[in-house]
Amino acid sequence: MFKINENYLKLPGSYLFSTIGKKVREYSEAHPDKEIIRLGIGDVTQPLAPVIIEAMHKAVDEMGHQETFRGYAPDLGYEFLRDAIAEGDYRSRGCDISADEIFVSDGAKCDSGNIQEIFSEDCRIAVCDPVYPVYVDTNVMAGRTGEYDAKTGTWSNVIYMPCTADNDFSPELPKEVPDLIYLCFPNNPTGSAITKDRLQEWVDYANRNGAVIIYDAAYEAYISEESVPHSIFECSGARTCAIELKSFSKNAGFTGVRLGYTVIPRDLKCGDVSLHALWARRHGTKYNGAPYIVQRAGEAVYTEEGRKQLSAQVAYYMNNAKVIYEGLKGAGYTVSGGVNAPYIWLKTPGAMTSWEFFDYLLEKANVVGTPGSGFGPSGEGYFRLTAFGTYENTVRAIDRIKAL
Ligand code: MLT
Repeated sequence: MFKINENYLKLPGSYLFSTIGKKVREYSEAHPDKEIIRLGIGDVTQPLAPVIIEAMHKAVDEMGHQETFRGYAPDLGYEFLRDAIAEGDYRSRGCDISADEIFVSDGAKCDSGNIQEIFSEDCRIAVCDPVYPVYVDTNVMAGRTGEYDAKTGTWSNVIYMPCTADNDFSPELPKEVPDLIYLCFPNNPTGSAITKDRLQEWVDYANRNGAVIIYDAAYEAYISEESVPHSIFECSGARTCAIELKSFSKNAGFTGVRLGYTVIPRDLKCGDVSLHALWARRHGTKYNGAPYIVQRAGEAVYTEEGRKQLSAQVAYYMNNAKVIYEGLKGAGYTVSGGVNAPYIWLKTPGAMTSWEFFDYLLEKANVVGTPGSGFGPSGEGYFRLTAFGTYENTVRAIDRIKAL
């Protein structure tokens, strides 16, 4: 008789954004006349930039001719893309990362969920609280998190690093030493950022304690302040303690196209074993690469025209962030984020819980956001709005909230 992976049964409820999607669907079915504005999941709304479309069209044509047709992509991704990434995201910023340390994938969500596989089951993880739920849930599935306490909303074997208004939504170095540390900056969900000096402290801490930092830099394109690093590899010593995850979803609008990459420096080792070799083995065994057409689209991101068009798109979303931030602040809400990230983090009014405010906003303003408590216990009493809507919808949503 077969048995299932019982760790899955420990997961409370469904994935946060599936729960929200279901609630909104049910509300919408019951109130078909209501026009709902979705500022919940961080999904982009602007069409792909012309430079991307052009690259995709060209690649589609190539696939239709014998001489230029491509089958399976190389395990780690096409060289043309890995070279463009190494130059555009690393060498140009003074980071010592080479093309063969980059693994192209179909997105950072999968990589952030899968990366834990190359670590021992008894590794102890540390996460920010609140946190992007994928990091925790995938470790639950792997049996690494202990037991869930429904009262506190925490796992017995996870080290939580609260990110609250008291510490400016920036975690303190944990007292109990973890093996794996998940950090995401600019942060999802709080929209906070980390300075290079502060990140250097984390890198030093990880090197001192033999820990690995899994650094999710999916929102790097939204950084507007000089003191905020674009990559953990801007910090000295990061090559021996860090893995970096990057996405094309937020900087280039690829949420539906799917492309991302993971950087594992060759110097990152456990004894004699290189993590690069383990991830390469996993990639080769379980993955057949992002499509050629998509990788060519990714290459276009790094062209001069690509950079120009995409920075205009980022500016469009950041203008939405300003509309949300200023609109809510003007209406008396306590707000943060939105300066180096496309997320606004607001305190729910009065004594409302995050889910109460979710229901209130859905029913009274027909606006969807994300309850802070869905990201962890320290998110209780907070709420996230995304700047990825259209400008028109963003303005209307804020007007509706202000009118409540
Ligand atoms: C979010 O809303 O937190 C993100 O869109 C989720 C993701 O990128 O997977």
